[in-house]
Amino acid sequence: MSSILVIGGTGNIGQHLVTASLKAGHRTAVLVRPTTVASDSDKAKLLNSLEARGVSVVYGDMNNHKSLVAAIKQHGEVVISAVGHGRPEELDGQLKIIEAIKEVGCVKRFVPSEFGCDVEHHVEHTLEPANSMIVTPKLRVRRAIRDAGIPHTIICSYWATGLLFSTLGNSGENGPLSTGVDIFGDENSRAIFVNEKDMSMLTIRAVEDPRTLDKILHVRPPANMRSFGQLVHLLEKKTGKTFERHYVTEPELVKKIQEAPFPLNFQLAMVHSTVAHAGACEHAVDPAVSVEATLLYPDVQFIKVEDCLDGFLPAF
Ligand SMILES: NC(=O)c1ccc[n+]([C@@H]2O[C@H](COP(=O)([O-])OP(=O)(O)OC[C@H]3O[C@@H](n4cnc5c(N)ncnc54)[C@H](OP(=O)(O)O)[C@@H]3O)[C@@H](O)[C@H]2O)c1
Repeated sequence: MSSILVIGGTGNIGQHLVTASLKAGHRTAVLVRPTTVASDSDKAKLLNSLEARGVSVVYGDMNNHKSLVAAIKQHGEVVISAVGHGRPEELDGQLKIIEAIKEVGCVKRFVPSEFGCDVEHHVEHTLEPANSMIVTPKLRVRRAIRDAGIPHTIICSYWATGLLFSTLGNSGENGPLSTGVDIFGDENSRAIFVNEKDMSMLTIRAVEDPRTLDKILHVRPPANMRSFGQLVHLLEKKTGKTFERHYVTEPELVKKIQEAPFPLNFQLAMVHSTVAHAGACEHAVDPAVSVEATLLYPDVQFIKVEDCLDGFLPAF
């Protein structure tokens, strides 16, 4: 069992990583900014409940080198970052984690904040503002980790179900989805959906696994690869309703992205990078640098898209 330090453990994805680490029996700590506890009562409650479950709450800041080094020295045999993409300084701030890991010198695995598509594969066709907000900074961090020779694993777990299924990428401009739904891409453009619990459980397995050392772990359960049209069909089956479909072609989607305000333009640009090119997420991987979670961990029963959708049915 390792000691695992999660930076960003109060975030959407980070909370699941902390729970998965605890569940696997690791000594688990979260690095938290003191201002978070003072200013956000929900996060303060979350931290209290994590502490009650045995998590060490360590006060510090990714931007404060001294506090970062101290936290990693004491709690971070393994360091997992789940900082967000909402502010430009967060993903790029991970360059400071890399500096701290270099100084400490004995971190056995670093997992940077990724948990999405393979940015190396998507860099050419991801539109703004998603390219500058996500793809470019994640690439910069990957390069810095490799240049520094830090033992690492990158988790590509594609679309988090909890974050997409409430809207299926729709802006709400057609009213509730049950009255009209935009469908992006055709039946050949499938996205990959992974529940946050599965992506976190696999991350925690991967940090202990020599087969994932310095590799990209692709989490691509075949049963969870679906087009947006197939998701709507599933929703119709589950709700018994018929949705009016608006098929959005690629040029129309590009126009929507150019005209939409932030953050909708960002969300649509992420959808575009997934569906504009058939098979965008299903590319063959180079075994020298990548491994498939479904092959490494054949025992894992992935939470199915069908079951994830159930949680959102009241919204439709
Ligand atoms: N696959 C998908 O569909 C999907 C969806 C969403 C996100 N993601 C990816 O998952 C990763 C995490 O995103 P998220 O949405 O979970 O992020 P989030 O909810 O915005 O959480 C960010 C976390 O980072 C912490 N943080 C920010 N700045 C910090 C600093 N200076 N020092 C210490 N902690 C700091 C925040 O702490 P506070 O509590 O103090 O704010 C928070 O815990 C990102 O790489 C993102 O691109 C993937």
